[in-house]
Amino acid sequence: MKVLVVGNGGREHAIAWKLLQSKRVERVFCAPGNGGTASLSGAENIPYGVDDFAGMADFAHTNGIDLVVVGPEVPLALGITDYLQAQGLKVFGPVKAGAQIEASKAWAKALMQEAGIPTAKAAVFTDLSAAKSYIQSQGVPIVVKADGLAAGKGVIVAQTVAEAENALEMIFGGAFGSAGNFVVIEECLVGQEVSVLALTDGVTIVPLLPAQDHKRIGEGDTGENTGGMGAYAPAPIATDELMARVQTQVLEAAIAALRNRGIDYRGVLYAGLMVSPQGDFRVLEFNCRFGDPETQVLLPMLLTPLDELMLACVEQRLASMLPLQWQPGAAATVVLASGGYPGNYTKGKPISGIREAESLGVTVFHAGTKLASSQILTDGGRVLNVTATAPDFATALASAYAGIGKIAFEQMYFRRDIGHRVL
Ligand code: AMP
Ligand code: GLY
Repeated sequence: MKVLVVGNGGREHAIAWKLLQSKRVERVFCAPGNGGTASLSGAENIPYGVDDFAGMADFAHTNGIDLVVVGPEVPLALGITDYLQAQGLKVFGPVKAGAQIEASKAWAKALMQEAGIPTAKAAVFTDLSAAKSYIQSQGVPIVVKADGLAAGKGVIVAQTVAEAENALEMIFGGAFGSAGNFVVIEECLVGQEVSVLALTDGVTIVPLLPAQDHKRIGEGDTGENTGGMGAYAPAPIATDELMARVQTQVLEAAIAALRNRGIDYRGVLYAGLMVSPQGDFRVLEFNCRFGDPETQVLLPMLLTPLDELMLACVEQRLASMLPLQWQPGAAATVVLASGGYPGNYTKGKPISGIREAESLGVTVFHAGTKLASSQILTDGGRVLNVTATAPDFATALASAYAGIGKIAFEQMYFRRDIGHRVL
């Protein structure tokens, strides 16, 4: 099999790496890929942007691509799956109508309400003064969300009315472009977040191991939100009993509601949950793709061949692949970021020590890196994901941090407390 992986993050490096472990996968092409996929044996980068659908379709036909796997939400929301399917290609990732579950928070909220999926109470606004009066009536804390895709920056958890009003002015003022035409204002939930990613072929839906991300930049979960600074799986807070409720009340309910709207949703459905101290949960958001960095801890634990699972989703025969096989134990990943992220940072810094880290037994997935004349350079905010599996969390985390001890680049930043809840 030849597979084309669309994207250039740590998630896509992990997907390419896992696919290449399957004996049926002969070659993986990454569009556009990063320094990690450029260095991965069996993989190569091809110079197409994630929105260059025509370029990728041509490449896929010329090179006999058997499966296209779409990593990020942006091309899914733009309809890459519809486009490539119309050209006769097999694509892992939902069609444009299905990607609305992530691309419009107002649309997703309506779907959740219709399907009876537990979620925060919310209202949708298109007008600043109506939104302001709603906030006055509800009080704080309150959560203000731009409707559309905003690279993880469109959600403001406001502790004061002034903060909430600033968020409204920023979003309606065009800070996120048309993503801010609608604003969702919702009740602020407290508890622990869990990411439940599930594979679906539109009929069968099967969760992967529950994972926990660390969204904030600072230790002790402080400071600004990021794309995610580290993750571990399986998250113990998601007990079997909780996962059974998520299966029926969230995953199956969402797929049924999508089907009611005429949407045959195939790919990953990712439910971001808030679990209250009492053990109840609500859905914070849905994503239409694998999580990043959750994928970097889930795929190392997965024993069922990923290519077969993805094809089974595309061809609607996922039930024949169950149950999924998992390595026992735990996985952890720690993100190494450029100093200044999620704000401004500089790129192009040489990275040393990746091989030395890997010789200790960790796997280093690249995110914002590039390969320039046999030197790996930083090329983004989140740079590397140092990942380890072990029989228990303490060993997996210690091993990831030991690997980090070998790696260096100027202004490297990472959180030293990834996994603090399980230690
Ligand atoms: P979202 O993109 O909707 O998942 O929001 C991004 C992050 O904002 C989440 O991972 C949470 O940390 C936070 N968040 C979103 N909605 C809420 C809410 N209703 N209550 C508290 N925090 C929230
Ligand atoms: N790690 C959060 C996300 O992928 O949305």
